[in-house]
Amino acid sequence: MEQQVEALRGEALAEIAAAKDRATLEAARIRYLGKSGAVTAISEGMRNVPKEDRPRFGKLLNDLRQAVTQALDDSERLLLEAADSAAVSSLDLSLPGTWPSPGTLHPLTQLMDRVVRCFRRMGFAIADGPDIETEWHCFDALNTPADHPARNEQDTFYLPDGRLLRSHTSSVQIRVMENCPPPIRIIAPGAAYRRDEVDATHLAQFTQMEGLYVAEKVSLADLKGTLEFFFRELFGSGTNIQFRPHFFPFTEPSYEIDIRTEALGNEWMELAGCGMVDPAVFEAICERRGDRVFDPEKVSGFAFGFGLERLAMNLSRIPDIRMLVENDLRFLNQF
Ligand code: PHE
Repeated sequence: MEQQVEALRGEALAEIAAAKDRATLEAARIRYLGKSGAVTAISEGMRNVPKEDRPRFGKLLNDLRQAVTQALDDSERLLLEAADSAAVSSLDLSLPGTWPSPGTLHPLTQLMDRVVRCFRRMGFAIADGPDIETEWHCFDALNTPADHPARNEQDTFYLPDGRLLRSHTSSVQIRVMENCPPPIRIIAPGAAYRRDEVDATHLAQFTQMEGLYVAEKVSLADLKGTLEFFFRELFGSGTNIQFRPHFFPFTEPSYEIDIRTEALGNEWMELAGCGMVDPAVFEAICERRGDRVFDPEKVSGFAFGFGLERLAMNLSRIPDIRMLVENDLRFLNQF
């Protein structure tokens, strides 16, 4: 009996050691340890072993089963490891990986950052207001009479409750003065909405940057100095700037700003509106606040506003405003 066990152990271990793949190993597992396997068969011989020999024989059989199981597990692990290293042996681990492209900021965002940085250097803080506005903040407080064309339903998006999508960011001037006493020096970047037919120069939603400076003795010279500095920062120190008289209900006097540079073809480009805050705006604020901190006899101010898309188009010679919203990577990758 003992010899039989020893012989079986030798045979099994040799076969397992020689196995070259997992299928052969699995076959050996069944042949030796399976229900009708050799180790199982020999265990059935227990019945014929004399009682006093049974413990010793039982231990022998146990050792055999364990040794075969161990050998099978070890071989299987070695085969798996070999398969793993074979799979990576042809890989060059020193090659650089494939990186996902991190992308870039949208050209408008890049320009916005530049503009904001420039005004921050001059001490302007950033202010914000809602895109959905009341008529009062968007028009009435800005001295815009009820029959002004901008208030027409053909030009402005009205909501059923009477509010509207702000047609300019000038409403933020009002929000800021309602809530903060002078001195005020803010810029307000954000979306504006108009019922324009979309074409190469118009979108129904675009981006504006508003500016407001209110304090004692703010003059037209401050307005000119601030905006000349800004446009020369953006377009270069040789830029020509002209303030052309214009009309806005909320500023008096009012101007449009045209600029001209050699590099951009020496043509005048109309880029912004501006002016000295109209006393009627200050009076509307005083009435709303219930105090006189914005008394037009005591404070003065200037305001300006321009469209970011128009600025980007002129700076980067973008021929069609729609390119800024189409998300075509061939366009965006150029910035
Ligand atoms: N709100 C004006 C517009 O949208 C621009 C502007 C702002 C003009 C501030 C003067 C002062 O056209």
